[in-house]
Amino acid sequence: MDKLLIDGGVALKGSVLIDGAKNAALPALAASLLAEDREVLLQNVPSVVDIRTMCRLLGVMGATVEAEGTSIRILPGDLTSLEAPYDLVRTMRASILTLGPMLARYGYAKVSSPGGCAIGERPIDLHLAGLKAMGARIDLHEGYIEGRADRLVGAEIYLDTPSVTGTENLLMAATLAEGNTIIENAAMEPEISDLAALLKAMGASIEGEGTERIEIKGTTRLVGATHRIIPDRIETATYAAVAAISQGDILIEGTDKEMLSSVIRKMTAAGTSITPEGSGFRVSSTGRLRGVDVTTAPYPGFPTDVQAQFMAMMALAQGTSVIREMVFENRFMHVAELRRMGADIRTEGASAVVRGVPSLEGAPVMATDLRASASLVVAGLAARGRTTISRIYHLDRGYSRLEEKLSRLGARVRRVKS
Ligand code: EPZ
Repeated sequence: MDKLLIDGGVALKGSVLIDGAKNAALPALAASLLAEDREVLLQNVPSVVDIRTMCRLLGVMGATVEAEGTSIRILPGDLTSLEAPYDLVRTMRASILTLGPMLARYGYAKVSSPGGCAIGERPIDLHLAGLKAMGARIDLHEGYIEGRADRLVGAEIYLDTPSVTGTENLLMAATLAEGNTIIENAAMEPEISDLAALLKAMGASIEGEGTERIEIKGTTRLVGATHRIIPDRIETATYAAVAAISQGDILIEGTDKEMLSSVIRKMTAAGTSITPEGSGFRVSSTGRLRGVDVTTAPYPGFPTDVQAQFMAMMALAQGTSVIREMVFENRFMHVAELRRMGADIRTEGASAVVRGVPSLEGAPVMATDLRASASLVVAGLAARGRTTISRIYHLDRGYSRLEEKLSRLGARVRRVKS
């Protein structure tokens, strides 16, 4: 298993180009299963492990998937298997996104039920309840969800929680349902609007994406289309945290500041300077950051996927900050590792009280999930001495060419095989 070695303490400078969003490309790949004719061509797709897993899953189902650079082409044609096997689903929960499209297009789907996850229980009851409301019969059998429906029927669905992949699954399913579907309390993340843009290009009729009420007029047939994936706002926020904590100056390019207003507000309050520039914005920081409180929430609130990276910044800030994690019930796995580096953090339930310390010290630490591992990279870049991060396969799931991008900014970082 690879490890990352970071010799910290360098103010990082230069520019970094952001990749397409993993969490937009995953549902887009699943949506390709809806196309009856003409290929789906996705551009600006990040080269990360989760994308490769989704492509393998589509391949196992019988789809022809061709990757070239940052483009992926999915050729139309009937699937030969309507099953998402345990071996793939257990490595990536987002495989559940194939359930809605398969059920809508083929009237049948068998998807391994995603198990537990490091950051929380993560049930999929809202996905299943929504599909049942559209007339699907859903059975759980030997760890697999089996869905059947002659043809899905439009329905009014209220989501108790604005689940991101829940909204995406039901949105995709509703495009081929008979009649109209309304999703209330829908998730409003930019990735939802990006998926809707692809589905519309494929011939779907959708209104209200990006708001809490989405209306879909079902149709009988969708075809392939070409679509460019939006930039990755979480990768963007991660590099902004790198600039802030290292007292650096980084131009983040190929991104969209508008998708990150809650994060930018908090970073500015912490004393980071953020100025629009070119196809992105510049992040610079001189002097010690200030402690700022943060509470995570569904979009447009502060993203839970940035909580850990922001906590690493607050570990070195002047004063105390309270970080409340309100989306997932177990997303403080990075706290114990940051403490190993000398951070002063106490957790109580959904809250973490971070007392800023003047410096962190490099240490051997362990990655536990994707964003927790990103926070260890952020902390390691500012720490004195060497940080060794193990289990970095977590990082590879969602960050592409991380060492290369960081080295270009002046970081002393390298991957070692162990
Ligand atoms: C998506 O996960 C993202 N993943 C996550 O990013 C992200 O953290 C999360 O949204 C929140 O923003 C992808 O898009 C592939 P949810 P998702 O359903 O859809 C509860 C990353 O780091 N819930 O919005 O699985 C759930 O338990 C990953 O890139 C139900 O109770 O998250 C949680 O508490 C990690 N029942 C809350 O809703 C359901 O049926 C939000 O989860 C569904 C969800």
